[in-house]
Amino acid sequence: MGGMGIISNDIIKPIITQTRRNFMSTITVSILGVGARGGEAYGSYVHACKDKYKIVSLCDVNPSKIEKYSALFNVRKEDCYLNEEEFLKEKRSDLLIIATLDQDHVRLALKAIKLGYAILLEKPISDNVEELVELQKTAKEYGTIVVVCHVLRYTVAIRKIKELIDAKKIGELVSFDSLEQVAYWHYAHSYVRGNWRSSKNATPMIMAKCCHDLDLMQYFADSKCESLSSVGALRYFKPENKPEGATDRCINCKHVDTCAYSAKRIYVDEWNLCGKPNAWPFTVLSDKELTEEELFEKLKTTRYGECVFNGYNDVVDHQFVTATFENGVTANLNMMAFTKGGGRIMRFFGTEGEILYDEAGDHVTLKRFGGENEVYVISKLTDDLTGHGGGDHRMIDAVYEVLKGNADVADTSLDRSIESHLMAIASEKSRLSGGERVKIHID
Ligand SMILES: NC(=O)c1ccc[n+]([C@@H]2O[C@H](COP(=O)([O-])OP(=O)(O)OC[C@H]3O[C@@H](n4cnc5c(N)ncnc54)[C@H](O)[C@@H]3O)[C@@H](O)[C@H]2O)c1
Repeated sequence: MGGMGIISNDIIKPIITQTRRNFMSTITVSILGVGARGGEAYGSYVHACKDKYKIVSLCDVNPSKIEKYSALFNVRKEDCYLNEEEFLKEKRSDLLIIATLDQDHVRLALKAIKLGYAILLEKPISDNVEELVELQKTAKEYGTIVVVCHVLRYTVAIRKIKELIDAKKIGELVSFDSLEQVAYWHYAHSYVRGNWRSSKNATPMIMAKCCHDLDLMQYFADSKCESLSSVGALRYFKPENKPEGATDRCINCKHVDTCAYSAKRIYVDEWNLCGKPNAWPFTVLSDKELTEEELFEKLKTTRYGECVFNGYNDVVDHQFVTATFENGVTANLNMMAFTKGGGRIMRFFGTEGEILYDEAGDHVTLKRFGGENEVYVISKLTDDLTGHGGGDHRMIDAVYEVLKGNADVADTSLDRSIESHLMAIASEKSRLSGGERVKIHID
């Protein structure tokens, strides 16, 4: 098998036990980066769990985020910070949620570990192996609990599939396929117009979008990835595909009401159709209360109003990964921008049956060979499917159990999460080499 291993087993040693902490009272929380994830997704739920958590401090470089979330979470002005240096002068709470953008995660986590925080760290951690090693070593040295936001492991549907596989309901797992439907509008929002459009400023898309999928691959395979290969490219969002006569901004373009990627259709028409929600992705355009006038204004002045064919993005719009795990299980991942809806479709093949799951539906289907099909209705298994199918909230609940000493280690501990990051780094390496097979660890 060709290809260089990307990391030595001797360098990354598993942290077998993370220091168990017993926080006797409510766990105090600080949030570094109160954007869509830190503020809206996690902060709001943490704030709602008043018997478990109390948010005591915030830091964000954007004053309007601080204003919004300090009011929402009742955090005193003197406990809010506009720059990380000031904020990281001392430890301000038991737990720190780090939800800034991709490139800052390791730098901030290293500082936080040394201050003695337990950390909930947004993914991706880093696309640099040396940084991953340094973070892992430092966390081990300080005995720090670091939980990574691989929220999908905590969703009810994923837990159900894992339970069925572990109970051998399909015999021995042989292989599985996973289709990550990015959705045409989400790709345009995040990877053409948004934060993840430039490979210079963000992690590769296979890391940014699919480190969840890669993490789930090793979760289901129940084994470390041995090697993988990957192909993919940016096929469509290029100047040569710009419709005839299109302008650089959608708002004054003759295709404004017909182009599938028109910013007016995605941000104004869709916002109206959805009942004018104050939610992602619309809140990414403006911190003010959303109105149609405000959205139109942002389409005139921000990158979210730009034509997707301007050529300002350079990240792939489709990518395949084919992986072999140490226990012999094989798996495919297909990341695809060109889908109408988002979500994953998964199919698991075992020696005695199959499992089918489509995130857009509400059920997991077990098809046992020579037996009746069994259908598990997800909404009957939980009353909270908000935020990644309930995963965001269940993860915050799980962090509490770890910090209280009721659980040894989170499902998405730093060690487990690093494995999927190594898979993403190997995938990009393979893709750039034209699909060469890459080993994950050197034997
Ligand atoms: N776990 C998941 O499923 C998931 C989903 C989406 C995004 N993410 C990740 O979450 C992270 C945040 O994404 P987002 O969508 O919330 O972005 P965002 O832009 O909405 O929020 C980031 C916030 O961090 C602030 N910030 C940036 N640099 C800072 C610094 N040095 N100090 C203090 N504040 C700073 C920004 O002002 C902003 O408010 C990203 O790394 C992203 O890849 C994870």
